[in-house]
Amino acid sequence: MSREEALKLLKDNLPNQNLIKHCLAVEAIMRALARHFGEGDEEKWALAGLLHDIDYEKVKDDLSQHSLLGAKMLEDLGVDKDICQAVKVHNEAHGIKPETLMEKALFVTDPLTGLIVAAALVLPSKKLVDLTTENILNRFKEKAFARGANREIIQKCEELLNLSLEDFTRMGLQAMQGISADLGL
Ligand SMILES: [Fe+2]
Repeated sequence: MSREEALKLLKDNLPNQNLIKHCLAVEAIMRALARHFGEGDEEKWALAGLLHDIDYEKVKDDLSQHSLLGAKMLEDLGVDKDICQAVKVHNEAHGIKPETLMEKALFVTDPLTGLIVAAALVLPSKKLVDLTTENILNRFKEKAFARGANREIIQKCEELLNLSLEDFTRMGLQAMQGISADLGL
């Protein structure tokens, strides 16, 4: 599946603009991580990020199906098996352990984007360009801030990706700054 096809599929399935932006953010970070790890197939990592929440509109009232349905939808469309599996395991609620580097990357990247967006939105300018890694790390420690961004999972960047929280956060911020216009931030 090409990126263009994937983006169309995403827009057909997700009416919520913020969710589309979330998917674009995860895509950008996944691409940066693939590059960092010297993974040849950056596009595969990027697609996994872009498509990971494809089922959200359909499962929003019953999140127990979230990611299981998404993986099935993508499988039925003939999407690469590795991508389907990464989509399936990204929802920690199912307790499936991420095994491959791509699965691990998607797993920890998903909650990071929410923390970065929330940290940007409380700046006077509300712009990613004015956000710093240090600022995000401070927000990370504030438990009441952006509660939905699961710190325990973000922190797993250390054991799963062998990246310090600081390095992971910096890479995430830079990747999102690179698409700030698309994110409207
Ligand atoms: Fe997500």
